[in-house]
Amino acid sequence: MADPVGIPLLDVLGGRRCDPVPVWFMRQAGRYLPEYRRLRRSLGSFLDLVYTPEAAAEATLQPVRRFALDAAILFSDILVIPHALGQEVRFAEGEGPRLEPIRDRGDLSRLVPARAEEALQPIYETVRLARRALPDGVALIGFAGGPWTVATYMAAGRGGDEQCAAKLWAYRDPEGFRALLGLIERASIDYLLGQIRAGAQVIQIFESWAANLPESWFEDLVIAPTRRIVDALAKAAPGVPVIGFARGAGALLPRYARASGVGAVSLDTAIPVSFADETLPQGLAVQGNLDPLLVCAGGATMKAEAGRILDGLRRRPHVFNLGHGFVPATPLGHVEELIDFVRGKGGTSE
Ligand code: CP3
Repeated sequence: MADPVGIPLLDVLGGRRCDPVPVWFMRQAGRYLPEYRRLRRSLGSFLDLVYTPEAAAEATLQPVRRFALDAAILFSDILVIPHALGQEVRFAEGEGPRLEPIRDRGDLSRLVPARAEEALQPIYETVRLARRALPDGVALIGFAGGPWTVATYMAAGRGGDEQCAAKLWAYRDPEGFRALLGLIERASIDYLLGQIRAGAQVIQIFESWAANLPESWFEDLVIAPTRRIVDALAKAAPGVPVIGFARGAGALLPRYARASGVGAVSLDTAIPVSFADETLPQGLAVQGNLDPLLVCAGGATMKAEAGRILDGLRRRPHVFNLGHGFVPATPLGHVEELIDFVRGKGGTSE
């Protein structure tokens, strides 16, 4: 167990239990906040916002100004990696991301790894600005997508194709697909190290499309690249905790937790808390699980479920979080009530 540093999120990720448990939320920045919608309107596009450090730092800080959170998460997106590699990426209003698909190994020549670091510099500046503005007790989380998840968007040109394009490529031409994963992996390592050097204290790897892979392919496409990223970070930036969010891993989650090297795991809503507690390594920090739609609905139902999660994870280091991100219709009052509830449930340390 790491020595306590007095920053609740870092203490818990270091293997210590804190009561009350620290809390932050996936998609805590974004469209459910009126101040975000205003900021977003003042810039041309979502990517303009991401690449304008002052504005992106502001979006990072907005939820922390409004709520008593234990962490801020860098305002960026997992698709800046394909963008930095030279793939055309746009965010169509109301439709989600659209990319010019990279369909097979012949298309890999369109990617230019040498330009990535230059393209990502504004994001490191966002991290510096946000870290400088945050109170000491509030941790700053940096992130990247898991290479598999990023590859699903790169191959399909969009989300929501059930990972068909990426899977078919991987099954038909494993070597070519591994070359794509390798490009993403190397760019992600540099990107995460850039964030850490700029002030990110925790890293989360968003593997949002980990569901529905055959066991051996889950090993090759999800666990192995994550392991290489975690090892590279541990070597170049020892002591920075990495949270893995393998959404939909299901029964493979314990293996992901053991073999990927991550120091903490984030639970999606479909993972029973009891299954997680029984099968994950003892002492491993866990976050997540609350259905974001429960926060949209609010009230006693939200609190009952939050209470069950707090209770189910009371024997291990726990960070309160959602099973996925807030939806834009989430009422701000419900978020406040939830945070008060989580803090009120705590024990003695405050
Ligand atoms: O508060 C935070 O969570 C920090 C910022 C953040 C964003 N995206 C901002 C964003 C983070 C951590 C992400 C991660 C991300 N992006 C993931 C992994 C997590 C997950 O949700 O599974 C994925 C798959 C993406 C890709 C992506 N970006 C999609 C599918 C979309 C469209 C869907 C949507 O919600 O609109 C985005 C756009 C996006 N990324 C928005 C925000 C605030 C909304 C864009 C807008 O403001 O118009």
